[in-house]
Amino acid sequence: MSQATRADRRAMRTLIERRRAEASALLATDAGRAAVAVHGTPLLLLDPDRVRRQYRRLCDALPFVRFHYAVKALAHDAVIGALDDAGSGFDVATADELSLLQRRGIDASRIIHTHPVKKPSEISEAIAAGVRTFVIDNEAELGKFADAPPDVRLLVRLAYRSPHAKSDLSSKFGVGPFEAANLVARARLTGSRIAGFSFHVGSQLDDPGRFAHAVGDTLALMDDLERRFGVSFDTLDIGGGFPVAYDAPTSSLEDVAERLRPILEPHAARLDIIAEPGRVLVAEAMTLVTSVVGVAERDDGRWYYIDDGVYGSYSNVVAEDVHPLVFAERELLGGTPDEASHRWATLGGPTCDSSDVVARELLLPELAVGDLLVSPTMGAYTAVTATRFNGRALTPIAVMGRGLTTGEVTAIGASDPRAASIV
Ligand SMILES: Cc1ncc(COP(=O)(O)O)c(C=O)c1O
Repeated sequence: MSQATRADRRAMRTLIERRRAEASALLATDAGRAAVAVHGTPLLLLDPDRVRRQYRRLCDALPFVRFHYAVKALAHDAVIGALDDAGSGFDVATADELSLLQRRGIDASRIIHTHPVKKPSEISEAIAAGVRTFVIDNEAELGKFADAPPDVRLLVRLAYRSPHAKSDLSSKFGVGPFEAANLVARARLTGSRIAGFSFHVGSQLDDPGRFAHAVGDTLALMDDLERRFGVSFDTLDIGGGFPVAYDAPTSSLEDVAERLRPILEPHAARLDIIAEPGRVLVAEAMTLVTSVVGVAERDDGRWYYIDDGVYGSYSNVVAEDVHPLVFAERELLGGTPDEASHRWATLGGPTCDSSDVVARELLLPELAVGDLLVSPTMGAYTAVTATRFNGRALTPIAVMGRGLTTGEVTAIGASDPRAASIV
């Protein structure tokens, strides 16, 4: 076995052990046990402290960058609250996300709107709310800002191909250098202010080098356009994309920051450098607890059917091709798992659709109806992309760490059906 393979296997084992220990510790807490006892399953356990810690890690790794949490990753009051208290900015893509922030009274100066294509009414509402930074990537969008107040600042979204990202956003949004120059020229004619540039390297991109290239190329383009047009830009938005270790190790946010720091730092005095991280702030902060509702032997072996699936919280499995780990409660509580007694199984979701399969070839202990399963790293693009297919209710979210308060309600938004008592 090569050294690299041995090291990879060791890193994989370390990750699985870490995730197992975290899941185990969560289930062992009074709050974790009480939440499951009160609400049953499926249940998402959200730990806002974890969000706060991730935010701190980002700030420590890139101290000259101002972070705007991409609300779309997990638009939950408790996440917004934790990041508001920590001093984070926010990135919204819709009027609904903006309302969530407004309800908390977050000052509009801390909010940027980064959807490159918006309804004119959404632009006017955001402007009326005080938002001043917007993203565009085409002339039609630029035209929507013709009558905007003079202090509105536009960022031109650039596209960088990222075939290795789980979600390569460049196929839908962003322009190359030629169109970017045209937009700058056009904005000078129409009187709109292009304040700088943004990009998104692709979500869940485990390639710090690609990220660094995108930063370098954007800085070079800004330099070139400033010279050609005699303008000066003041903002560079490096987007999101920081990866999360689901079922395999990835570069840490510190690894990514180490590549970006030497390229960005020389520009920190001149430019307002901002970022829009989503996944990296929330993925590890939420854990899904499900129950086995059925067991069957099929031609391809053992199947366990559980009460959440790809049309629900596990929407990330199909939409993003990410694969959160799944642990059985009985192996978490029983100390070191006895893998000899495990068997390969398929994990089916609760709907009657045959594509509702959470995982195949999963090594699990013998399970029976009612047994609990736990998936860590279920905070990003899970609850927010879940559907009510088959009439199933959305999985409630219980917020951890606030003591055993009962009767209080938390929700994705105040009227969201996912509301669960805080435990
Ligand atoms: C414009 C924009 N900003 C930020 C994000 C957050 O990205 P990530 O969750 O990869 O950090 C996204 C994700 O799709 C996005 O589209």
